[in-house]
Amino acid sequence: MVDMSVDLGGLAMRTPVATASGTFGYGREYEGLVDYSALGAVTAKGVRMSPWPGNPAPRHVEVPGGMINAIGLQGPGAEHFVKWTLPRVRALGVPVIANVWGGSAEEYAQAAAILDAAEGVAAIEMNVSCPNVKEGGHTFGSSPQTLAATVRAVRPAVRKPLIVKLAPNVPDFAPYLKALEDEGADAVSMINTMPAMAIDIEKRRPVLGNRTGGLSGRCIHPVAVKAVYDAHRASRLPILAMGGVYGPEDAIELMLAGATAVAVGTATFTDPRTAERVAAGIAAYCGRHGFAAAREITGALQEQDPC
Ligand SMILES: Cc1cc2nc3c(=O)[nH]c(=O)nc-3n(C[C@H](O)[C@H](O)[C@H](O)COP(=O)(O)O)c2cc1C
Repeated sequence: MVDMSVDLGGLAMRTPVATASGTFGYGREYEGLVDYSALGAVTAKGVRMSPWPGNPAPRHVEVPGGMINAIGLQGPGAEHFVKWTLPRVRALGVPVIANVWGGSAEEYAQAAAILDAAEGVAAIEMNVSCPNVKEGGHTFGSSPQTLAATVRAVRPAVRKPLIVKLAPNVPDFAPYLKALEDEGADAVSMINTMPAMAIDIEKRRPVLGNRTGGLSGRCIHPVAVKAVYDAHRASRLPILAMGGVYGPEDAIELMLAGATAVAVGTATFTDPRTAERVAAGIAAYCGRHGFAAAREITGALQEQDPC
């Protein structure tokens, strides 16, 4: 019997497989379809302090190997989430990671405090890929300095494990990871979607209402593997990896590169039971390769040819 439990910076997960924010509703939408006991955690769709309308339609488009979305983080706000949604997700008996965002560092901290205090939230994940309205619209994660300042504002408001989610489009992860370590984050999640665009050539217009969006799915998987590999070599922070996990082999690749756990995102749209299948496949892989525990796969990449 393989021990599937992992510890993600203080978040105890019974399997190393979670769902990725924004791709699994607020957690309970798949009730009756998915065996939640196979999941290590569910990550809720991003919430901010107050309700947010999101972007104009169309909000997503399918592209080869994935999709581009520009939902624009539509949501009902932190208090609504805690009062109306969380009690029903909590009843499913799976740890809930609350994903938080804001227009300023103060807003992040306010929303994070509400979520941290809520019964049933097991950890907080900060999405730093949204625009900083006070500082010219650059994302909070676009420079190590802004990232550090944002985490510094949030950390005192959060007693539960604090996970910070990074975007893949930076030249070098090392200064970002250093900022997270210095500011006391417990774990890093990666990767968020990659900036992308699709054009309708007949109308000569952008396909998405927001013009641009974020690319996700199978096509970004190798980018995620490289990001996790680099991050694992640059930092000791545990990694929750996502990006094109469609089957156990994708998850195992990310774990060999250094991830402690993985999250299934876009694949859920085509097969809602992907995360369950991934967890079963990781257990089978461990059995075949003589790993007594799934956590032994983390970083077990063999760089040297043994011959
Ligand atoms: C429709 C959609 C909505 C998303 N919403 C969020 C969100 O609210 N917060 C967040 O941090 N990431 C969000 N993401 C990013 C995913 O959580 C994930 O990081 C990304 O899609 C890469 O994983 P995948 O290729 O398995 O989908 C969203 C992705 C999609 C496709």
